[in-house]
This record gives sequence, C-alpha cells and structure tokens, in this order.
Amino acid sequence: MGKNSFNIAVFPGDGVGTEIMQEALKILRLIADKKKISLEFSEGYIGGAAYDRFGEPLPEQSLDLAMQSDAVLLGAVGGPRWEALEYKFRPERALLGLREKMGLYANLRPVVVFEELLDASPLKEEVVRGIDIMIVRELTGDIYFGQPRGVFKEKSGRRKGVNTMVYTEEEISRIAVRAFEIARKRKKNLLSVDKANVLECTELWRSVVSEVGRDYSDVTLKHMYVDNCAMQLIRNPAQFDVIVTTNLFGDILSDEAAMLTGSIGMLPSASLGKDKALYEPIHGSAPDIAGKNIANPLATILSVALLLRYTMARPAEAELVEKAVAGVLQEGYRTQDIFQEGKKLVGTAEMGDLTWKKLAGLLN
Ligand code: IPM
Ligand code: MG
Repeated sequence: MGKNSFNIAVFPGDGVGTEIMQEALKILRLIADKKKISLEFSEGYIGGAAYDRFGEPLPEQSLDLAMQSDAVLLGAVGGPRWEALEYKFRPERALLGLREKMGLYANLRPVVVFEELLDASPLKEEVVRGIDIMIVRELTGDIYFGQPRGVFKEKSGRRKGVNTMVYTEEEISRIAVRAFEIARKRKKNLLSVDKANVLECTELWRSVVSEVGRDYSDVTLKHMYVDNCAMQLIRNPAQFDVIVTTNLFGDILSDEAAMLTGSIGMLPSASLGKDKALYEPIHGSAPDIAGKNIANPLATILSVALLLRYTMARPAEAELVEKAVAGVLQEGYRTQDIFQEGKKLVGTAEMGDLTWKKLAGLLN
C-alpha cells in the first residue's frame, strides 16, 4: 500500500477561483471518504486576495503552507483591480513565485477532446475527433525568469525594455527526461518545439533534447519550429502525442490547444517538481463572470483527477472522476462557455453537484 494520508494546501485565489474550488473540493472529499484516504486541508490566500489582506501576492504563511504540503490545489489569480500595481505586487507573481520556490519545472497540460463536446470546438469535428495531446511545458526557466529584465532608461533618456531567454543544459535535460518518460507510457511519439532557426538558446534546447533521446530509443523524437507547430495544431492536431517545449512557447501553445477542446474552461494542469506538486485549471480568474455562478468548474475538477493520478498514485480513481465528467456532458449538461442549442444550461454549483452525483454512482 502506498501513502494514504496527504496534506493539501488550498488556494482559491481571485475571481472565479473561489467558486470553482468549492466544486473541486467536493469531488476530492467524496473520493477521500469512499476510499478512506485521509486528507488534511489548509487554506491560504494568494494573488490579489492576498495583496488586499497582507500587501503582497504570496505572503510567507501561504508559501509555508505550499512548501509543507503534498500538493497544492489552486483556483486562479488576477483581475483588473490589481493590474496597475508594480510587477512584484501583481497577483501573477504569486503563481510564478510558487512555481519557482517549489521547483515545479514540469507543467503537464493534457488536451483531450470529449466526444460529447466535439461540436463545441470552433474547428470541424473531423479535425478534433479523438485528440489526445500531452503538452509538457518547462515552467521555471526561459524568459519568465531570465536576467537581466526590466525597463531601463538609456543615456538618451529613452526607455528600453529587456527580458532574457535563458536555459541551462540541466534545465533542458530534466524536462526532456520527464517528457520522454511520459511519451514512453503513451504512443511513444515525442515532439520537441523550439525556434532553433533563430534563437541560439533553443538551438541548445534542440541538441540537449536529442542527446537525452539516445536513452529512449523506443520513443520517436521529432523537432518542430514553434510557428509551424502553432499552424499544425489547427491544421492537423491529431498528429500530436506528447509535445515538450519551453516556458513561453508552452504558455502560448497550450492556450491555442485548449480551444481544440471547445473551451479553455475544460483544461486542467499539473505542475510537478522533484517531490512537490501543484494542480490548477489553465484558465484565468475571469473577473467578468466572477461571483455569478456561471464559470465552468470542470477544469478544476479535472485537476483533482490529475492530483489523484500524480500525487496520490490513484489512477483508477482519477479515471472515475474523468468518467463522471464525461457522463454529465453526455447527459447534455453544459455551463455557458460550452453551451449549445438543445443542451441543458447549468451554473457552476449545479455542474459540480451533477458531477458529484455521477461520481458517487460510479464509486458504489
Ligand atoms: C498560465 C498563465 C500564467 C503563465 C500567468 C497567469 C502568469 O497564463 O499558467 O498559462 O503565463 O504561465
Ligand atoms: Mg497561459
């Protein structure tokens, strides 16, 4: 028997974060009850909510909770109220701080199209049917963290903005290893995405990924430039199995890939380090719809499935959560982001309750 008790740090964050988190926690509690997993939850403030209370987006006590946890479950951060703040006070810094301090270098973003949502995608059904892509995004390097950075005054008095793309060999090889290991358990196709025709940094990326690939002769490795990949994701997304890429390219490509599924409200993510983990939906805090009970809680619920799979080593239970989501969609229930004529429009809490009931049925 593996470990059976876990500390979960819960950070609802801002905007729709609180609403979607409630639904996700119900799902997690149900599994824990039925499967006799002992969970200890500790809730903390991050993002704008933390800035309002403590004057900083990632207060010490929240960081401590995260560092002591087996896993962090996070809603979303950000909103227009905090957009004018200096960079270090912005809600987004909390996310970046957690990623950096917890060493969460591997961000897994599974892009799976539910059969029931085929018609919700802006692309043709035949293009998106059967899509099952795992995007492995490097999360603690690149232009997100590289120095120098900032806006500087030049001698002429004019300003200059600087950000720096940096990758060390170690950073590239550890994410490559993760990606190869994942590909090995899937269809054994790994695509590494870079801009090696222009950026030296990604020339290094390409050669280190290829070197790591020598230890994985069972996995087929290919390389693609990021601009071409952006196009191929729309033209023929079915060609992809596992994609490994840099922090910035992964950020952009994963939003693009999300739309294959019909809505960014459907995509979960896992951010993994050596022994730490954080789970969150890939969407933002959606301040325009916050507090209205209309946000889609499924990305966060599916993030719970990833938590079960990667932190708790409970793949069977993870699948049940995914099945419950598919079941509710099959019955025609939709939040507004995935709503279409003839379907049943439900709110955040109802969608959570329906999924809870479906899951309870599956667990019996
Ligand atoms: C994401 C988000 C974040 C990122 C923002 C909110 C800092 O877009 O997780 O994809 O750029 O990584
Ligand atoms: Mg993003």
